[in-house]
Amino acid sequence: MVLKAELHCHVEGAASPALVEKKAAKYGADVSAFIIDGKFVWHDFTSFLRAYDQASALFRTEEDYADLSEDYLLSLAKQDAIYSEVFISTDHAISAGLSPRAYIEGLAEGMHRAKAATGIESRMIATGLRHKGPDAVMQAAKYIADNPHPLVSGFGMAGDERMHHPEDFARAFNVARDAGLGITVHAGELSGWESVANALDALKPSRIGHGVRAIENPDLVRRLADEQILLECCPGSNISLQVYADFPSHPFPVLAKAGVPVTLNSDDPPYFHTDLTREYEIAAEFFGCDDDTLTEITRTALKAAYIDETTQNSLLERLNTDKTVSA
Ligand code: ADE
Ligand code: ZN
Repeated sequence: MVLKAELHCHVEGAASPALVEKKAAKYGADVSAFIIDGKFVWHDFTSFLRAYDQASALFRTEEDYADLSEDYLLSLAKQDAIYSEVFISTDHAISAGLSPRAYIEGLAEGMHRAKAATGIESRMIATGLRHKGPDAVMQAAKYIADNPHPLVSGFGMAGDERMHHPEDFARAFNVARDAGLGITVHAGELSGWESVANALDALKPSRIGHGVRAIENPDLVRRLADEQILLECCPGSNISLQVYADFPSHPFPVLAKAGVPVTLNSDDPPYFHTDLTREYEIAAEFFGCDDDTLTEITRTALKAAYIDETTQNSLLERLNTDKTVSA
């Protein structure tokens, strides 16, 4: 048994179609535009974001969000995950008519419930949405800087990478960094290596969401290895969104061999027909990872986690202990 950890999953994107249908029944909403035969339907990044926004709009109360984080973390714990960082989006809460405070309290309640039931540890990474522009991302950063929560430990940016330049968001990221939050940013998924280089220069993250298209520039790959910038890789998502044609073409193993820290993540699991277990299976099947290498990937994730040192050490200890027992 390989213990797992996840650093890159959007909590709204983790809502199963069954849970979304349950919320739709509660609110008398019609989901037939984006759920068919129990599956989310979309055909490109833009329609994926639309389906994602429509599903998110059905989470409207603190309890809806407690259900969501509890449901996801319980499913992760069943997959032998011991740690999870989920991206949250105060923009989605506001769009659904919920205050950011109630949103975060609800998510935290679900996280506490899942921890009490299974021991799974988790944190939230607040995000701004790039396609909403610099002012909206600044608002998201300011909210989280002015309203610290013990379970919110990072700040990032998701959304459409093809819009705006990372420099446009530098001030927002400075606000988040000054508040002591860990910094990650989506780059090098829909756009090429320059997007990763620009994000590194402008926003100074310790991790990049995806980042895989750094492979297009060997100097950049060396920079990632030298500076030990971690890439939160999501191979199943990349294939679903056709960033790469198939798993054998995915750069994960080449990046790992070049010394870039890489981890495995599910991104938006039901949208991309994946989960964390499947991502570890993909790495075993297509990237040549044996159980020891997979455990090392979990260790890499824990070492790069946005978490206090005491909790981090106890998670690393758990990984070491479980490994010794199974060896
Ligand atoms: N938001 C949710 N999933 C995303 C992805 N794969 N890329 C960018 N933004 C996202
Ligand atoms: Zn993502």
